[in-house]
Amino acid sequence: MKKLIITSVVAAGLFTACGNKPEDTKHETTTHEQKVQEHKEVVKKAVEKVQEHKEIVKQEVAKVAQKVEAKKEEVKQEVAKVAQKVEAKKEEVKQEVAKVAQTVETKKEEVKQEVAKVTQAVETKKEEAKASIDVNKLYAACAGCHGMNAEKKALGQSAVIKGWEVAKLEKALHGYKDGSYGGAMKGVMKGQVMKLDDAQITALAKHISSL
Ligand code: HEC
Repeated sequence: MKKLIITSVVAAGLFTACGNKPEDTKHETTTHEQKVQEHKEVVKKAVEKVQEHKEIVKQEVAKVAQKVEAKKEEVKQEVAKVAQKVEAKKEEVKQEVAKVAQTVETKKEEVKQEVAKVTQAVETKKEEAKASIDVNKLYAACAGCHGMNAEKKALGQSAVIKGWEVAKLEKALHGYKDGSYGGAMKGVMKGQVMKLDDAQITALAKHISSL
C-alpha cells in the first residue's frame, strides 16, 4: 500500500517534470543538468509528499486505534451492565425462592395445625365415645336391680329412679358412698358405688336422668 503510493507519486512527478519540454540542442549539457536539477526537485517533492502521506497514514492508524480503544471501552461497559443485570436477576430469583420457601413453610405450618386440630377432634370424639361406652357399661351393673330403663324398684325396696334430676341422683350416689344417704338397704348400694369416682357418678347421674 505504502509502496504503491510512493511509486504513483514519483511517477506523477516525473511525468509532469519531463513532459512537453522544448528541445534545445545548443545548450544540450546545460539543459541536461537543468533537467537533472528539475528531476531532483521533483524527487524531493515526491519524497516530501511520501513523508506527508506517511504522516496521514500514521494519523489514520492512530485514529483507528483510538476508535478500537473506544469500542473496547464500550464493550467493556456493556459487559459490565449485563453482568450487573445478571446479578440483579439473581437477587430477584433468590428473593422469589425465599418467598416461595416461606409460603411453603407457612402452608406446612397451617397443614400441621390443621392436622393437630383434626387429631384433637378425633381424640375428643374417641374420648366421648369411650365415655359413652363407659357409662353404658357402668349402668349395666345397675340395670340388674333398677331395670334397663331405671323403671324398677330395686329389690322391691328402692324408689323408681327413672326421671330423677341429675343433682338428686348425684346427691344419692355420693350419699351412699360416704354413708350420709339411704334407707334400710343402703349397704347394698354402698357396695355398688364405692368404686365409682366423681366423674363416673356424674356420668351415671346424667345417663339415668336421660332414660
Ligand atoms: C343389688 C341390687 C342393686 C344394684 C346392682 C344397684 N342398686 Fe341402687 N338401690 C338398690 C336398693 C336396694 C336401693 C335402696 C337402698 C336404700 O335402702 O336406701 C337402691 C337405691 C338406689 C338409689 C336411690 C333411690 C332411693 O330410693 O333413694 C339410687 C340413685 C340408686 N340405687 C342407683 C343405683 C346405681 C347408679 C346403680 C349402679 C351403679 C345401682 N343403684 C345398683 C339396689 C341396687
